[in-house]
Amino acid sequence: MTILITGGAGFIGSHFARRMVRRHHVVVLDKLTYAGNLENLKDIREDRELSGRFRFYKGDICNQELVDHIMSAENIDTIVNFAAETHVDRSILSASTFIDTDMKGVFVLLEASRRYKIKKFIQISTDEVYGTAHHGAFKETDPLNPSNPYSASKAGGDRLAFAYWKTYKLPIIITRASNNYGPYQHPEKFIPLFITNAIEDLKLPLYGDGKQERDWIHVEDHCAAIDFIIENGQDGEVYNIGGGNEKYNIDTALFILSVLEKDKSMIENVKDREGHDRRYALDCTKLKTLGWLPQINFEEGLRDTIKWYEMNVSWWKQIKNDEFKKYYQTQYNHRFACKN
Ligand code: NAD
Ligand code: TYD
Repeated sequence: MTILITGGAGFIGSHFARRMVRRHHVVVLDKLTYAGNLENLKDIREDRELSGRFRFYKGDICNQELVDHIMSAENIDTIVNFAAETHVDRSILSASTFIDTDMKGVFVLLEASRRYKIKKFIQISTDEVYGTAHHGAFKETDPLNPSNPYSASKAGGDRLAFAYWKTYKLPIIITRASNNYGPYQHPEKFIPLFITNAIEDLKLPLYGDGKQERDWIHVEDHCAAIDFIIENGQDGEVYNIGGGNEKYNIDTALFILSVLEKDKSMIENVKDREGHDRRYALDCTKLKTLGWLPQINFEEGLRDTIKWYEMNVSWWKQIKNDEFKKYYQTQYNHRFACKN
């Protein structure tokens, strides 16, 4: 395969590129927004053997000319679209880049896929398109009910990909994964924010009562599932990918503090997120029946992840720079000011 991995300099995309480049030609297209980081791909680029099968393009998936150029110059046969604006809290502050990348960008990639007769298009969607799980766990056939601009724009991309299957028989597959954790995750997200804040002796801003539930999956389990779906999935189908680790946020925060041997008084209950989904839960029977199972135990995976952030302080300190601090103030000052 020659795979175009969009968003391959981000958290999940870089893990996926590292996995696939061992067996395939990999081309990464990434805009290098605040969330993209070439450091995440450094080991591939510096490896004599792997770098021979790897190409990087800096650019926007909304740029049709560039996408067309890559498709023909690199002879792409498979696209895995990770490129997205991904942080719910940022989408609440300002949604416009979410609409551009998570909807229009998907359109540009789908159109190029038709023109260049792509063999497989994987649209990386998210469990957040279902909205809150009031009870039970979502199946792939359940209606979408997104709650915030991020999940709504992802739902748009998700359904547009499906429309290209129904209308043009473009060989697309949609995946909806639960919350990922692991090395190289941007410290704006819950788990790395809490780990790095705890290391820096800063308060951990827990939204609302902290009793929201997330189903955590290790990023390596998620990447293995996508690899498996490329080989075994059916065109036109949707696959849920969950870790089976439903945890209250407060319990995840307390676990992080206990591993780092820090006091639980570092947690501060702050003003809740607007439109906050209370609970996510996925029924993954469909993918499990095909033969995929997650392998990584949550407590072990999280311990290893915490260790990784302890060992790679320079990686996240570069990200928690002045620009990040400005963002942090905008996002959190008012939350701390009106505690829960
Ligand atoms: P991330 O924010 O770490 O990385 C996103 C990457 O996309 C960055 O490298 C960024 O530079 C790039 N990008 C953004 N806009 C672009 C554009 N217009 N053109 C080209 N590149 C662009 O995100 P992530 O956590 O790795 O998520 C990857 C994908 O997985 C996303 O589609 C997300 O919706 C989905 N997903 C994430 C999770 C999770 O828990 N992180 C769970 C389920 C699904
Ligand atoms: P996040 O990592 O933003 O992922 P998502 O909103 O896509 O699930 O948040 C995970 C959970 O953690 C979510 O319930 C919101 C909560 N959270 C906090 O309590 N404090 C924080 O500072 C952040 C970023 C998230």
